[in-house]
Amino acid sequence: MGFDFDDLNDRRGTWSARWDKYPGDVIPLWVADTDFRAPPVVLQAMRERLEHGVLGYTVQPAVLREAICERMLRLYGWRIEPAWIVFLPGVVPGLHLAARHLLRPGEHALLPVPLYHHFRLALERAPRPFTEVPLVLQGGRWVFDEERLAASVRPQTRLLFLCNPQNPGGTIFTRAELERIAAFAARHGLAICSDEIHCDLLLDRGKPHVPIASLSPEISRRTVTLASPNKAFNFPGAGCAWAVVEDPQLRRAFMADDHATIHDPSLFGYVAVLAAYRSGADWLEAQLDYLAGNRDLVEREIASMPGLSMVHTEATYLAWIDCAGLGAKDPQQLFLQAGVALSPGSQFGAPQLVRLNFGTQRARLADALQRIRTASRPSPRG
Ligand SMILES: Cc1ncc(COP(=O)(O)O)c(C=O)c1O
Repeated sequence: MGFDFDDLNDRRGTWSARWDKYPGDVIPLWVADTDFRAPPVVLQAMRERLEHGVLGYTVQPAVLREAICERMLRLYGWRIEPAWIVFLPGVVPGLHLAARHLLRPGEHALLPVPLYHHFRLALERAPRPFTEVPLVLQGGRWVFDEERLAASVRPQTRLLFLCNPQNPGGTIFTRAELERIAAFAARHGLAICSDEIHCDLLLDRGKPHVPIASLSPEISRRTVTLASPNKAFNFPGAGCAWAVVEDPQLRRAFMADDHATIHDPSLFGYVAVLAAYRSGADWLEAQLDYLAGNRDLVEREIASMPGLSMVHTEATYLAWIDCAGLGAKDPQQLFLQAGVALSPGSQFGAPQLVRLNFGTQRARLADALQRIRTASRPSPRG
């Protein structure tokens, strides 16, 4: 079946976070959702549930736990038990739960950066001390600086946060890289909280996602894996998330706020995920092909613009663009004035970069890239 990712639907006036923030002629390529309609099988499943008409309190469906276990085994050879799954209303609450409950006051975390800003916010609000350890560029990929990570360990360090695939760098960490980082965590007795929300958005075929907890039973017992299909199937306004936590003690700690400040996901979240996992594979494949085409377009265009550069995006629909060569004080503002809203790099701790969300229709993306080109042109000396 063909899917139309080129349909220029209009999201304005739908309470879209992305589209409603900037009125006027601005192409919004910032917050990480896409402009694609969710898979038809998902919309149909939600429609059918809505038709029933009674939307009462809902138990966490055993059938969904089974579907998640089956998927982890099929895709990654990772055998998990239904009881290890802790449903969450979103991945961000999972980051906050990890910061508050996997660390006691005064205990310290390591944060490889640049990184999706809610990791840092979770630690700041808990509050727990942390050290940001910059990723390094190696062979055109943003990877861990293992020496600096080791040098940042303190006697009170108890937690390592990871984001794999990485937002905003777009890296799919290899098995060997993860084995080394897992060995590092084990050596220092650290728990790992691994946010794997982008794991289905792999744009380079042949580069597999490896859940860090799948490396060994020992690593699984020290890891909280956060996951959600909300991004890959584009229903973050209506979906759900979960953590996989094997160790019962870690799980109890992580669930301290359950049925208090942490509410169950919406009934529609369960319905959407189950439909996506059961019947959404062909839509996901088609979307990945489309996104890889968008990624190639962004990489080609950015490479031809003086002052801008980016590394290859292996996964996610986010391009991490270095604007240092422009010499602009605030690159995000520069592009906003030209009619494209990007995420400022300062949000991730790198003010000379911007993050571009290419999860949109190609014609719209081409228009945005043309605006970026115009804004980046050196002004004629007068
Ligand atoms: C790495 C990462 N984690 C979590 C989220 C948000 O997750 P949720 O909407 O489920 O809270 C995002 C969204 O951009 C993300 O990139």
